[in-house]
Amino acid sequence: MEKVVIDGVELYLCEPDRVTMSWVGQEELITQVLASWLVIGEDDMPLSPRLVGRPGVGKTTLAYHAGRTLGRPVYLFQATMDTRPEDLIVTPVISDQGKIRYMASPVVSAMLRGGIAVIDEGNRMSEKSWASLAPLLDSRRYVESIVAGIKIKADPEFRFCTTMNDDASTFELPEYIHSRLQPQIQIDFPERDEELLILKSNLPFADEEILLYVVDFLQAAHEADERYSVRDGINIARYALKRLAGQKGRVSPGGRGTGMIGRLKEAASMILDASASEYFSRLVDEVEREE
Ligand SMILES: Nc1ncnc2c1ncn2[C@@H]1O[C@H](COP(=O)(O)OP(=O)(O)OP(=O)(O)O)[C@@H](O)[C@H]1O
Ligand SMILES: [Mg+2]
Repeated sequence: MEKVVIDGVELYLCEPDRVTMSWVGQEELITQVLASWLVIGEDDMPLSPRLVGRPGVGKTTLAYHAGRTLGRPVYLFQATMDTRPEDLIVTPVISDQGKIRYMASPVVSAMLRGGIAVIDEGNRMSEKSWASLAPLLDSRRYVESIVAGIKIKADPEFRFCTTMNDDASTFELPEYIHSRLQPQIQIDFPERDEELLILKSNLPFADEEILLYVVDFLQAAHEADERYSVRDGINIARYALKRLAGQKGRVSPGGRGTGMIGRLKEAASMILDASASEYFSRLVDEVEREE
């Protein structure tokens, strides 16, 4: 475990995240994140964007992918309502010799390594926790650890972003925090072509036919302003494919019972609800009417 010494205090760094999240389509959104992070002159400083959008539209994927694009270590920190200020900075643990060991959080590890810190679902943690990051997110670019009694400065390469969900279990953050988490980058549902590419990249082993049904389902749902996201589509296809793989004998492609459509309907009603599965019936009705 790598350690650094700051004002005589040893800090143990944690390892960055290496996951297989890769963003597909909507290139403009990556450009917006990278532009926020750019430093264009001596007195300039990077911005710390917040990525917002409905559940499952790809906020976490975009944040991680944009960070990896810079070729620097990316640290994901999952915020919860129990996140304490020190969890974001330095926590003490007892080492095997009974001594206190100071562990840098993912945010501080990113600050010291010149990496990217992503606070995922940032508005699930309270103002009190955000307040400990306030100096990091303005021109001071440092945090203070009360437990270790030190001030930690961010490397010039350090970058920050957060994702935010808007649902019932989130905090309303005060203006002084919001103003440090700018600009706001809005992620909307993708267009049909891009949504199909996302499905293909997440399910490379699936037949195109099933993915075409799922993308039609998702597009119809977006049109009707349903909350169903590409994540739901991926899960529906994944489960339907597993059901079909377990079936013996030939599978009739359009069959409503144990065929592909039947399995998609079943998956949609289990993963979402009965009205979601009705979308698949309607899609098949349309296809049959056209034939
Ligand atoms: N543009 C995209 N490219 C690749 N995969 C995507 C894209 N958009 C969504 N996904 C896929 O959809 C799923 C959900 O994405 P992700 O977890 O990033 O969404 P989120 O907005 O962070 O959701 P939540 O609000 O629940 O945190 C993942 O499986 C991800 O791979
Ligand atoms: Mg997320």
